[in-house]
Amino acid sequence: MRYLAEEAGIRQFLDVGTGLPVMQNTHEVAPDARVVYVDVDPLVAAHARDQLNGAATYIHADYHDPDTILTEAAKTLDFDQPVAVMFMGVLGYEPDLAELNRIVSRMLAPLAPGSHLVLWDGTNTTPEVVEGAARLAQSGGVPYILRSPADLATAFDGLTLVEPGLVQITAWRPDGDAPSIEAYGAVARKS
Ligand SMILES: C[S@@+](CC[C@H](N)C(=O)[O-])C[C@H]1O[C@@H](n2cnc3c(N)ncnc32)[C@H](O)[C@@H]1O
Repeated sequence: MRYLAEEAGIRQFLDVGTGLPVMQNTHEVAPDARVVYVDVDPLVAAHARDQLNGAATYIHADYHDPDTILTEAAKTLDFDQPVAVMFMGVLGYEPDLAELNRIVSRMLAPLAPGSHLVLWDGTNTTPEVVEGAARLAQSGGVPYILRSPADLATAFDGLTLVEPGLVQITAWRPDGDAPSIEAYGAVARKS
């Protein structure tokens, strides 16, 4: 977020699966930007109603329906100017990698050159974490698909990765010591 807002000059954010409230909400990290949040959870919608007070727009929608999201987001965002689309720890709810890629590419399709994709997700890079995800699913929790970094990389096809590329997220331009966590992500630019 800081890279996009401060270095890349992005002034518009479409944060899909925002999960309000989180520790650093997008509209707080980039207070001068136009921010649109999307989520499908009624609890997130309730927090958005109570807390946003016009600081950002909230769309209650499912990311499997990118066209509805784009139609609604276009009422707030100017698609002729760069937009950062964010999928932060949300696409593991979609089990099919081809569908994941359809969602991501459809969301980016109408956006101006200079727009960015920000995507990270949990990975299957450690057996203990994979076992934990399986236990969660067996216990009746909503299954979450942990993918390989190579599978996540396919979402960035056709885009230019910003340095350091697709890495463990705590290695993406860290500003201090961070614990190692089993999640990979990248920021990439649309030409
Ligand atoms: C693990 S939280 C991530 C929250 C936040 N992006 C972050 O980085 O902390 C996942 C969020 O994705 C939302 N979500 C799950 N499936 C979704 C879908 N099909 N469409 C939109 N949002 C979805 C959930 O409601 C939840 O708020």
